[in-house]
Amino acid sequence: MATQSLKSGKTLHIQPLTGSIGAEARGVDLSREVPEDVAEAIRQAFAEHLVLVFRNENDINEDEQNRLAALFGELQPLQVFQFLGAMQASITFNPGSRIEASNDDNAPKGSAPVQRNDLMALGLAGEFDGWHVDNAFAHFLPKAAVLRADVIAPVGGDTCFAGLTAAYDLLSPMMQEWLADAKAVYLVPDGFKEGINIHQYGPDAEERFDAEYPPREWPLVIAHPVTGRKALFIVPGYVAHIVGLSRPESHAMIRMLCQHVRSASFIYRHHWQKGDLVVWDEVFALHRAPDDFMPHDRKVVRVTAGQQVPTAAS
Ligand SMILES: [Fe+2]
Repeated sequence: MATQSLKSGKTLHIQPLTGSIGAEARGVDLSREVPEDVAEAIRQAFAEHLVLVFRNENDINEDEQNRLAALFGELQPLQVFQFLGAMQASITFNPGSRIEASNDDNAPKGSAPVQRNDLMALGLAGEFDGWHVDNAFAHFLPKAAVLRADVIAPVGGDTCFAGLTAAYDLLSPMMQEWLADAKAVYLVPDGFKEGINIHQYGPDAEERFDAEYPPREWPLVIAHPVTGRKALFIVPGYVAHIVGLSRPESHAMIRMLCQHVRSASFIYRHHWQKGDLVVWDEVFALHRAPDDFMPHDRKVVRVTAGQQVPTAAS
Protein backbone atom coordinates (compact mmCIF):
# COMPACT_ATOMS: atom_id res chain seq x y z
CA MET A 1 0.00 0.00 0.00
CA ALA A 2 1.25 3.51 -0.81
CA THR A 3 0.72 5.95 2.03
CA GLN A 4 1.18 9.67 1.48
CA SER A 5 1.31 12.23 4.26
CA LEU A 6 0.18 15.51 2.79
CA LYS A 7 0.80 19.15 3.68
CA SER A 8 -2.76 19.59 4.82
CA GLY A 9 -2.08 17.04 7.55
CA LYS A 10 -4.19 14.41 5.78
CA THR A 11 -2.94 10.93 5.00
CA LEU A 12 -4.00 9.16 1.82
CA HIS A 13 -3.65 5.40 1.45
CA ILE A 14 -3.75 3.83 -2.00
CA GLN A 15 -4.09 0.05 -2.09
CA PRO A 16 -3.92 -1.55 -5.56
CA LEU A 17 -6.74 -4.01 -6.18
CA THR A 18 -5.10 -5.89 -9.06
CA GLY A 19 -1.70 -5.74 -10.70
CA SER A 20 -3.10 -3.86 -13.70
CA ILE A 21 -6.16 -1.76 -12.85
CA GLY A 22 -7.99 -0.42 -9.82
CA ALA A 23 -7.00 0.77 -6.35
CA GLU A 24 -8.79 1.46 -3.11
CA ALA A 25 -8.35 4.98 -1.71
CA ARG A 26 -8.57 5.37 2.08
CA GLY A 27 -8.38 8.42 4.25
CA VAL A 28 -10.59 10.71 2.20
CA ASP A 29 -13.47 12.50 3.89
CA LEU A 30 -15.94 13.32 1.16
CA SER A 31 -18.47 14.78 3.56
CA ARG A 32 -16.61 18.11 3.35
CA GLU A 33 -14.50 19.95 0.85
CA VAL A 34 -11.41 17.97 -0.14
CA PRO A 35 -8.13 19.89 0.43
CA GLU A 36 -6.29 20.65 -2.80
CA ASP A 37 -3.26 18.50 -1.99
CA VAL A 38 -5.53 15.52 -1.28
CA ALA A 39 -7.43 16.21 -4.51
CA GLU A 40 -4.18 16.30 -6.46
CA ALA A 41 -2.98 13.05 -4.88
CA ILE A 42 -6.31 11.43 -5.77
CA ARG A 43 -6.00 12.62 -9.38
CA GLN A 44 -2.47 11.22 -9.54
CA ALA A 45 -3.61 7.84 -8.19
CA PHE A 46 -6.53 7.92 -10.63
CA ALA A 47 -4.16 8.50 -13.58
CA GLU A 48 -2.11 5.52 -12.46
CA HIS A 49 -4.86 3.05 -11.57
CA LEU A 50 -7.77 4.23 -13.82
CA VAL A 51 -10.36 3.00 -11.28
CA LEU A 52 -10.52 4.14 -7.66
CA VAL A 53 -12.77 2.68 -5.00
CA PHE A 54 -13.79 4.74 -1.97
CA ARG A 55 -15.37 2.67 0.79
CA ASN A 56 -17.37 4.29 3.55
CA GLU A 57 -18.85 2.83 6.67
CA ASN A 58 -22.05 4.74 6.23
CA ASP A 59 -24.44 5.43 3.42
CA ILE A 60 -23.02 7.73 0.84
CA ASN A 61 -25.13 10.50 -0.59
CA GLU A 62 -25.46 12.50 -3.76
CA ASP A 63 -23.40 15.41 -2.38
CA GLU A 64 -20.45 13.18 -1.62
CA GLN A 65 -20.70 11.58 -5.05
CA ASN A 66 -20.79 14.99 -6.74
CA ARG A 67 -17.87 16.23 -4.63
CA LEU A 68 -15.76 13.27 -5.75
CA ALA A 69 -16.76 13.72 -9.42
CA ALA A 70 -15.92 17.44 -9.28
CA LEU A 71 -12.28 16.60 -8.49
CA PHE A 72 -11.97 15.51 -12.13
CA GLY A 73 -13.76 18.35 -13.91
CA GLU A 74 -17.02 20.17 -14.28
CA LEU A 75 -20.07 17.97 -13.73
CA GLN A 76 -21.81 17.41 -17.04
CA PRO A 77 -23.76 14.75 -18.88
CA LEU A 78 -22.39 12.77 -21.81
CA GLN A 79 -21.81 14.92 -24.89
CA VAL A 80 -24.80 13.37 -26.64
CA PHE A 81 -27.18 14.57 -23.93
CA GLN A 82 -25.54 17.99 -23.90
CA PHE A 83 -26.21 18.20 -27.64
CA LEU A 84 -29.82 17.14 -27.14
CA GLY A 85 -30.31 19.68 -24.37
CA ALA A 86 -30.55 17.40 -21.30
CA MET A 87 -28.05 18.99 -18.93
CA GLN A 88 -28.20 16.73 -15.87
CA ALA A 89 -24.84 15.10 -15.07
CA SER A 90 -26.51 12.32 -13.10
CA ILE A 91 -28.26 9.32 -14.59
CA THR A 92 -29.88 6.40 -12.79
CA PHE A 93 -29.71 2.85 -14.12
CA ASN A 94 -32.45 0.63 -12.88
CA PRO A 95 -33.53 -2.17 -15.20
CA GLY A 96 -37.16 -1.87 -16.12
CA SER A 97 -37.32 1.78 -15.19
CA ARG A 98 -37.37 4.81 -17.41
CA ILE A 99 -34.21 6.54 -18.57
CA GLU A 100 -33.87 9.10 -15.85
CA ALA A 101 -32.01 11.59 -18.04
CA SER A 102 -35.31 12.04 -19.82
CA ASN A 103 -36.79 13.23 -16.56
CA ASP A 104 -34.32 16.08 -16.52
CA ASP A 105 -36.28 19.25 -15.91
CA ASN A 106 -34.16 21.05 -18.50
CA ALA A 107 -34.74 18.46 -21.20
CA PRO A 108 -37.08 19.32 -24.02
CA LYS A 109 -40.25 17.35 -23.47
CA GLY A 110 -41.81 15.22 -26.14
CA SER A 111 -43.36 11.79 -26.19
CA ALA A 112 -43.20 9.55 -23.13
CA PRO A 113 -39.84 7.91 -22.36
CA VAL A 114 -39.41 4.31 -23.41
CA GLN A 115 -38.36 1.46 -21.18
CA ARG A 116 -34.64 0.93 -20.88
CA ASN A 117 -33.65 -2.65 -20.34
CA ASP A 118 -29.92 -3.06 -20.66
CA LEU A 119 -27.08 -2.70 -23.12
CA MET A 120 -28.58 -5.50 -25.17
CA ALA A 121 -31.29 -3.06 -26.21
CA LEU A 122 -28.61 -0.70 -27.50
CA GLY A 123 -26.98 -3.39 -29.60
CA LEU A 124 -23.88 -3.19 -27.41
CA ALA A 125 -23.80 -6.69 -26.06
CA GLY A 126 -23.42 -9.68 -28.36
CA GLU A 127 -20.25 -11.68 -28.24
CA PHE A 128 -18.37 -9.00 -26.34
CA ASP A 129 -20.75 -8.99 -23.41
CA GLY A 130 -21.39 -5.28 -23.32
CA TRP A 131 -17.84 -4.04 -22.69
CA HIS A 132 -17.82 -0.38 -23.71
CA VAL A 133 -17.02 3.24 -22.97
CA ASP A 134 -20.05 5.49 -22.95
CA ASN A 135 -21.03 6.93 -26.34
CA ALA A 136 -17.69 6.34 -28.07
CA PHE A 137 -18.99 8.00 -31.26
CA ALA A 138 -19.40 11.42 -29.62
CA HIS A 139 -17.18 14.49 -30.02
CA PHE A 140 -15.67 14.08 -26.58
CA LEU A 141 -15.97 11.65 -23.70
CA PRO A 142 -16.12 12.31 -19.96
CA LYS A 143 -12.90 12.48 -18.01
CA ALA A 144 -14.39 10.45 -15.21
CA ALA A 145 -17.59 8.76 -14.12
CA VAL A 146 -18.53 8.12 -10.50
CA LEU A 147 -20.94 5.34 -9.62
CA ARG A 148 -22.95 4.97 -6.42
CA ALA A 149 -25.19 2.02 -5.66
CA ASP A 150 -28.59 3.07 -4.39
CA VAL A 151 -29.93 -0.46 -4.29
CA ILE A 152 -27.45 -3.35 -4.07
CA ALA A 153 -28.69 -6.68 -5.38
CA PRO A 154 -28.36 -9.58 -2.90
CA VAL A 155 -26.57 -11.57 -5.61
CA GLY A 156 -24.75 -10.44 -8.75
CA GLY A 157 -24.81 -6.84 -9.96
CA ASP A 158 -21.05 -6.30 -9.88
CA THR A 159 -19.47 -3.67 -12.12
CA CYS A 160 -16.44 -4.68 -14.18
CA PHE A 161 -13.62 -2.57 -15.59
CA ALA A 162 -10.95 -3.46 -18.15
CA GLY A 163 -7.72 -1.45 -18.28
CA LEU A 164 -6.63 -0.39 -21.74
CA THR A 165 -3.08 0.59 -20.78
CA ALA A 166 -2.39 -2.94 -19.54
CA ALA A 167 -4.11 -4.27 -22.67
CA TYR A 168 -1.66 -2.30 -24.80
CA ASP A 169 1.35 -3.41 -22.77
CA LEU A 170 0.53 -7.08 -23.34
CA LEU A 171 0.36 -6.81 -27.12
CA SER A 172 3.46 -8.07 -28.91
CA PRO A 173 5.95 -5.40 -30.01
CA MET A 174 5.13 -6.26 -33.61
CA MET A 175 1.40 -5.69 -33.09
CA GLN A 176 2.10 -2.48 -31.16
CA GLU A 177 4.12 -1.26 -34.09
CA TRP A 178 1.44 -2.17 -36.62
CA LEU A 179 -1.24 -0.37 -34.59
CA ALA A 180 0.87 2.72 -33.91
CA ASP A 181 -0.67 4.92 -36.62
CA ALA A 182 -3.88 2.98 -37.19
CA LYS A 183 -7.32 4.49 -36.77
CA ALA A 184 -10.73 2.97 -36.30
CA VAL A 185 -14.13 4.23 -37.37
CA TYR A 186 -16.88 4.55 -34.77
CA LEU A 187 -20.61 4.59 -35.44
CA VAL A 188 -23.80 5.17 -33.50
CA PRO A 189 -24.81 1.57 -32.61
CA ASP A 190 -28.03 0.08 -33.89
CA GLY A 191 -30.84 0.76 -31.47
CA PHE A 192 -29.05 3.64 -29.74
CA LYS A 193 -31.53 6.33 -30.77
CA GLU A 194 -34.45 4.13 -29.76
CA GLY A 195 -32.68 3.39 -26.46
CA ILE A 196 -32.56 7.06 -25.51
CA ASN A 197 -36.01 7.69 -27.02
CA ILE A 198 -34.69 10.40 -29.27
CA HIS A 199 -38.13 11.70 -30.16
CA GLN A 200 -38.60 13.09 -26.69
CA TYR A 201 -36.05 15.75 -27.64
CA GLY A 202 -38.25 17.22 -30.34
CA PRO A 203 -39.70 16.41 -33.75
CA ASP A 204 -36.42 17.18 -35.55
CA ALA A 205 -34.17 15.55 -32.93
CA GLU A 206 -33.39 12.47 -35.01
CA GLU A 207 -32.42 14.54 -38.03
CA ARG A 208 -30.23 16.81 -35.91
CA PHE A 209 -28.68 13.79 -34.22
CA ASP A 210 -27.85 12.09 -37.55
CA ALA A 211 -26.22 15.27 -38.85
CA GLU A 212 -24.23 15.70 -35.64
CA TYR A 213 -22.88 12.13 -35.46
CA PRO A 214 -21.41 10.96 -38.75
CA PRO A 215 -18.83 8.13 -38.57
CA ARG A 216 -15.92 9.30 -36.43
CA GLU A 217 -12.29 8.15 -36.41
CA TRP A 218 -10.26 7.61 -33.26
CA PRO A 219 -6.65 6.42 -33.01
CA LEU A 220 -6.20 2.82 -31.92
CA VAL A 221 -3.19 3.69 -29.78
CA ILE A 222 -3.66 6.64 -27.47
CA ALA A 223 -1.52 8.20 -24.74
CA HIS A 224 -2.60 9.03 -21.22
CA PRO A 225 -2.36 12.81 -20.68
CA VAL A 226 -0.83 12.47 -17.19
CA THR A 227 1.26 9.31 -17.20
CA GLY A 228 2.04 9.21 -20.92
CA ARG A 229 1.27 5.49 -20.90
CA LYS A 230 -0.02 4.09 -24.15
CA ALA A 231 -3.39 2.39 -24.31
CA LEU A 232 -5.21 0.24 -26.83
CA PHE A 233 -8.40 2.19 -27.56
CA ILE A 234 -10.95 -0.20 -29.00
CA VAL A 235 -14.58 -0.06 -27.99
CA PRO A 236 -16.70 -3.14 -28.66
CA GLY A 237 -20.19 -2.32 -29.85
CA TYR A 238 -19.18 1.06 -31.29
CA VAL A 239 -16.15 0.24 -33.45
CA ALA A 240 -17.07 -0.52 -37.06
CA HIS A 241 -13.95 -0.60 -39.18
CA ILE A 242 -10.17 -0.15 -39.18
CA VAL A 243 -9.15 2.45 -41.71
CA GLY A 244 -7.22 1.09 -44.67
CA LEU A 245 -8.02 -2.59 -44.16
CA SER A 246 -10.31 -4.65 -46.34
CA ARG A 247 -13.62 -5.66 -44.82
CA PRO A 248 -12.54 -9.21 -43.84
CA GLU A 249 -9.17 -7.99 -42.56
CA SER A 250 -10.84 -5.30 -40.49
CA HIS A 251 -13.44 -7.67 -39.11
CA ALA A 252 -10.78 -10.18 -38.05
CA MET A 253 -8.57 -7.50 -36.49
CA ILE A 254 -11.44 -5.92 -34.54
CA ARG A 255 -12.54 -9.30 -33.28
CA MET A 256 -9.02 -10.14 -32.12
CA LEU A 257 -8.52 -6.79 -30.38
CA CYS A 258 -11.93 -6.89 -28.71
CA GLN A 259 -11.19 -10.37 -27.39
CA HIS A 260 -7.82 -9.17 -26.18
CA VAL A 261 -9.15 -6.21 -24.16
CA ARG A 262 -11.53 -8.39 -22.20
CA SER A 263 -8.78 -10.71 -21.05
CA ALA A 264 -9.05 -11.51 -17.35
CA SER A 265 -5.53 -10.09 -16.94
CA PHE A 266 -6.77 -6.49 -17.19
CA ILE A 267 -10.03 -6.69 -15.28
CA TYR A 268 -11.14 -5.38 -11.93
CA ARG A 269 -14.57 -6.61 -10.85
CA HIS A 270 -16.21 -4.48 -8.19
CA HIS A 271 -18.55 -6.18 -5.76
CA TRP A 272 -20.73 -3.48 -4.25
CA GLN A 273 -20.95 -2.80 -0.53
CA LYS A 274 -22.96 -0.19 1.25
CA GLY A 275 -21.22 3.20 1.14
CA ASP A 276 -19.06 2.50 -1.94
CA LEU A 277 -18.19 5.07 -4.56
CA VAL A 278 -16.30 3.96 -7.64
CA VAL A 279 -14.71 6.37 -10.10
CA TRP A 280 -13.31 5.28 -13.45
CA ASP A 281 -11.60 6.83 -16.44
CA GLU A 282 -14.11 6.95 -19.30
CA VAL A 283 -11.47 6.54 -22.03
CA PHE A 284 -8.70 4.40 -20.56
CA ALA A 285 -10.97 1.75 -19.05
CA LEU A 286 -13.88 -0.17 -20.54
CA HIS A 287 -16.75 -1.02 -18.24
CA ARG A 288 -19.68 -3.38 -18.18
CA ALA A 289 -22.43 -4.44 -15.81
CA PRO A 290 -23.29 -8.15 -16.07
CA ASP A 291 -27.00 -8.75 -16.13
CA ASP A 292 -26.78 -11.47 -13.48
CA PHE A 293 -28.86 -10.08 -10.63
CA MET A 294 -32.35 -10.72 -11.97
CA PRO A 295 -34.99 -11.00 -10.63
CA HIS A 296 -33.55 -8.82 -7.87
CA ASP A 297 -33.53 -5.06 -7.93
CA ARG A 298 -30.37 -3.07 -8.57
CA LYS A 299 -30.14 0.66 -8.85
CA VAL A 300 -26.96 2.63 -9.51
CA VAL A 301 -26.46 6.33 -10.09
CA ARG A 302 -23.72 7.61 -12.38
CA VAL A 303 -22.33 11.14 -12.39
CA THR A 304 -19.99 12.20 -15.20
CA ALA A 305 -17.42 15.00 -15.09
CA GLY A 306 -14.88 16.69 -17.34
CA GLN A 307 -14.08 16.11 -20.97
CA GLN A 308 -11.37 14.27 -22.87
CA VAL A 309 -10.75 12.96 -26.35
CA PRO A 310 -8.74 9.86 -27.18
CA THR A 311 -5.47 11.35 -28.45
CA ALA A 312 -2.82 9.52 -30.45
CA ALA A 313 0.50 8.80 -28.79
CA SER A 314 3.08 11.08 -30.43
FE1 LIG B 1 -21.81 2.59 -19.65
